[in-house]
Amino acid sequence: CGIVGYVGGQSAQDVVVAGLKRLEYRGYDSAGVALLSDGGIAAAKRAGKLVNLEKELMERPLPAGHVGIGHTRWATHGGPTDVNAHPHLDNAGRVAVVHNGIIENFAALRGELAERGHDLVSETDTEVVAHLLAEAYSGGGDLAEAMRQVCRRLEGAFTLVAVHADEPETVVGARRNSPLVVGVGEGETFLASDVAAFIAHTRSAIELGQDQVVELTRDGVSVTDFAGRPAATRAYHVDWDASAAEKGGYPSFMLKEIADQPKAVADTLLGRIGGEEGELRLDEVRIAPSVLREVDKVVVIACGTAFHAGMIAKYAIEHWTRLPCETELASEFRYRDPILDQRTLVIAISQSGETMDTLMALRHAREQGAKVLAICNTNGSTIPRESDAVLYTHAGPEVAVASTKAFLTQLVACYLVALYLGQVRGTKWADEIRTVVRQLSEVAGSVQRVLETMEPVRELARSLADQDTVLFLGRHVGYPVALEGALKLKELAYMHAEGFAAGELKHGPIALIEDGLPVVVVVPSPQGRSVLHDKMVSNIQEIRARGARTIVIAEEGDETVVPYADHLILIPATPTLLQPLVATVPLQVFACELATARGNEVDQPRNLAKSVTVE
Ligand code: G6P
Repeated sequence: CGIVGYVGGQSAQDVVVAGLKRLEYRGYDSAGVALLSDGGIAAAKRAGKLVNLEKELMERPLPAGHVGIGHTRWATHGGPTDVNAHPHLDNAGRVAVVHNGIIENFAALRGELAERGHDLVSETDTEVVAHLLAEAYSGGGDLAEAMRQVCRRLEGAFTLVAVHADEPETVVGARRNSPLVVGVGEGETFLASDVAAFIAHTRSAIELGQDQVVELTRDGVSVTDFAGRPAATRAYHVDWDASAAEKGGYPSFMLKEIADQPKAVADTLLGRIGGEEGELRLDEVRIAPSVLREVDKVVVIACGTAFHAGMIAKYAIEHWTRLPCETELASEFRYRDPILDQRTLVIAISQSGETMDTLMALRHAREQGAKVLAICNTNGSTIPRESDAVLYTHAGPEVAVASTKAFLTQLVACYLVALYLGQVRGTKWADEIRTVVRQLSEVAGSVQRVLETMEPVRELARSLADQDTVLFLGRHVGYPVALEGALKLKELAYMHAEGFAAGELKHGPIALIEDGLPVVVVVPSPQGRSVLHDKMVSNIQEIRARGARTIVIAEEGDETVVPYADHLILIPATPTLLQPLVATVPLQVFACELATARGNEVDQPRNLAKSVTVE
């Protein structure tokens, strides 16, 4: 969910709604605002996307106010209805609260409140907080103190932001595990799940730590822990340009972000390659070389698209460092009691830096003594803060829910880490590192070339809009690419799409092949490991013989695949391990165009949220 709070001189409704627009990627099944006005609280909320709330506000405007809170929801407890939308108010309508996360003991609290005569109307876990705050406030008349008291009773993960009609110049927020940042402007202050919500007003931000309560007034902020002791915070400057979070003339964020990829890749390499001896300079990776030399196992944890980047990292890390490497879904990781110790390096990959499954997995790893390196795109987010070190990807803000440019930069970061481990541990010759670094620096140009040749891919996608199923095959690093191609199609086009390791085909999936079924095949480079390439060409023949309509992604100049390709998509020659950087791009374009042809809105696919801050 996305949360915004505002205190200042502007219209709170305008600031809050504009902020929610920037946060809609975090959830978009309902939205609401509450303003302090005329000694009371005026609120509006609506199921559905933010436009529904905006319509409601046009038809029935709220009275003017300069202090307000807002919410855009991704439902956990209770379906996406008007009643379940946030803000939630107490029975007297004096307190309003918005929430991101899950309050695990809400059923018990709800029971208690009912016994004390409270009338709860929604199915949410959030509503209990409004009632608890109202009770706690009546004890002392101090909203920040009431918030601290309530937080001490809550279990689970939560960000809460609240206002009280008796404190018309204050917004109070609380944070445990879910994200919350403060923005400080001239005579105005902001609270939000992400800086994107207030970047149009100020670039000065303050990170809040776990278990902290913040009180906002026009003149500033004060932060305490849940016990009321003053807490240390970190101020930072947001260097994202506000325009980077705009569509810049593209019909969707997704298309813009796909087009941004050459720059994102180049920016992620910037300043990190080409030391005097051609070595890598990853000074940010603040884990001592002596510790890295002792590492005897690497474990990569991530979710969704980031997990696919992690699968590719395994090939690179094992090849370049000869360290055993496992890649595991973060949501599965800690439940299988993994074997970890001081010599394990855990790499946590996350665009948002807020994914709860990944956060919980990294906490588990650190508890076992492992060192954690985060690969993350969001400065100041929770995952890098809780890790031993972080390598930031420089993709810039990614707004479309399905990840594209962040994925490519995660791959670049994984390659850099793999090579750096090789460099530090001396397992790779300096020459080889130099060669790969040079190849990496050429990839941005290759991605650009792919983007310039996508019209036939778009045409093909449109022609497949009525299909029910598309399969994807790959081998080696092409296998995670196939999985990613299938994931993009599921997310955007709501189609049945599956990725398989091509070698596994004959052990079952080949039974799915029937006349005319589109199968996308990612063919490895014929250079270097030509065995892989040749096996793949055989696989194409096998499926074609059974009627598949083959869509073949192969390297320019690879003549061997031509006779078996119903559709051929050519990509620039790229060394095998780096090929995912170019091979993924046509699959993103394919899914985006197919989804558009089916009439879907690509930036905000149904049921999804970009950053999932619940487990
Ligand atoms: C969500 C998004 C995916 C994303 C995954 C991991 O499920 O819809 O697009 O890949 O989370 O997100 P992260 O921010 O941790 O990379």
